[in-house]
Amino acid sequence: MAKAVRFYETGGPEVLRYEEVEVGDPGPGQVRLRHVAVGLNYADTYFRNGTYPIPMPNGMGVEASGVVQAIGEGVTNVRVGDRVTYTGFLNTLGAYSTERLIPAAPLIKLPETISFETAAAMTMRGLTSSYLMRRIYDFKAGDSILLHAAAGGVGLIVSQWAKLLGLNVIGTVSTEAKGEIALAHGCEHVINYSHEDVAQRVRELTDGVGVNVVFDSVGKNTFMGSLDSLKRRGLMVCVGTASGPIPAFDPVMLAMKGSLFLTRPALADYIADPAEKAALAGELFDHVGSGRIKIEINQHYALQDAVQAHRDLESRKTTGSSIFVI
Ligand SMILES: NC(=O)c1ccc[n+]([C@@H]2O[C@H](COP(=O)([O-])OP(=O)(O)OC[C@H]3O[C@@H](n4cnc5c(N)ncnc54)[C@H](OP(=O)(O)O)[C@@H]3O)[C@@H](O)[C@H]2O)c1
Repeated sequence: MAKAVRFYETGGPEVLRYEEVEVGDPGPGQVRLRHVAVGLNYADTYFRNGTYPIPMPNGMGVEASGVVQAIGEGVTNVRVGDRVTYTGFLNTLGAYSTERLIPAAPLIKLPETISFETAAAMTMRGLTSSYLMRRIYDFKAGDSILLHAAAGGVGLIVSQWAKLLGLNVIGTVSTEAKGEIALAHGCEHVINYSHEDVAQRVRELTDGVGVNVVFDSVGKNTFMGSLDSLKRRGLMVCVGTASGPIPAFDPVMLAMKGSLFLTRPALADYIADPAEKAALAGELFDHVGSGRIKIEINQHYALQDAVQAHRDLESRKTTGSSIFVI
């Protein structure tokens, strides 16, 4: 019998339940997939706590890798026995499971150079890094960026990729140990935002100019400091809100702080076009398969330990990527 983590009400990690589930046969356009590894993403906590409203009860998780067991009518992009990975949003909910039905469209075939574990650790975080590095801004070698939560899952991939592009990466972290990890993965400088003034340190590190782009995945606690770290006409990228949502503000503030640009992008809008998705995945697989970017899987969990996994992620105990191994 297949197993899955489901939840019946929104709330803290304790709402997650590990259950037996019936999977059944794939319908038209669907695939039955046996999972080998499942990604644990910060976005999972937004579904769980109601930040992203969804009908209840529901499955948890949006990213996993595995092997195709059966295909439904009309499926042409994958075959039985293919090694695949996926990430998505509402269309892939239910990834915390040993086996499942899923629409075929989000599935990406895995090259031999990428293991199931690496795929589950980077399909969401790596594709996000791919569009942040290759679609959001026309980076030139020597540009500088401020990267919050630099020792996290997205953080360690972006920092390595940015270094490959010749960018000057200033990372923020909450502990000295995380600072060491960030420095070892491409950050030129780290700022401990538990006790340092981020905008002031960024000005010091950039000769008073500020950075071209800020990647802010922390939200509420860092938003103003991020705006104050940008150079004139710089770009603020609100990647996520790990510390809570950003309060409403008057856009005139962007003018007052140097005619800044602001975007709140979602991965779904950068992989909606199949050709663009294939291009972003291709670059990611190439960097990872050749060893230029290392995917650090620093936490491994069993599916039945999903409650603990969410606690660890939200209490900032994790570094790099976290996966469930089936
Ligand atoms: N927009 C998109 O397309 C997209 C796609 C994927 C992910 N994301 C976002 O990218 C971010 C990173 O995701 P991830 O899965 O790789 O997670 P992660 O970075 O591994 O974990 C979150 C990190 O945020 C930092 N943080 C700062 N304040 C926090 C707080 N009050 N509570 C908890 N953590 C806090 C912590 O690092 P420190 O201890 O060093 O502060 C923590 O380790 C998330 O915000 C996620 O929503 C966005």
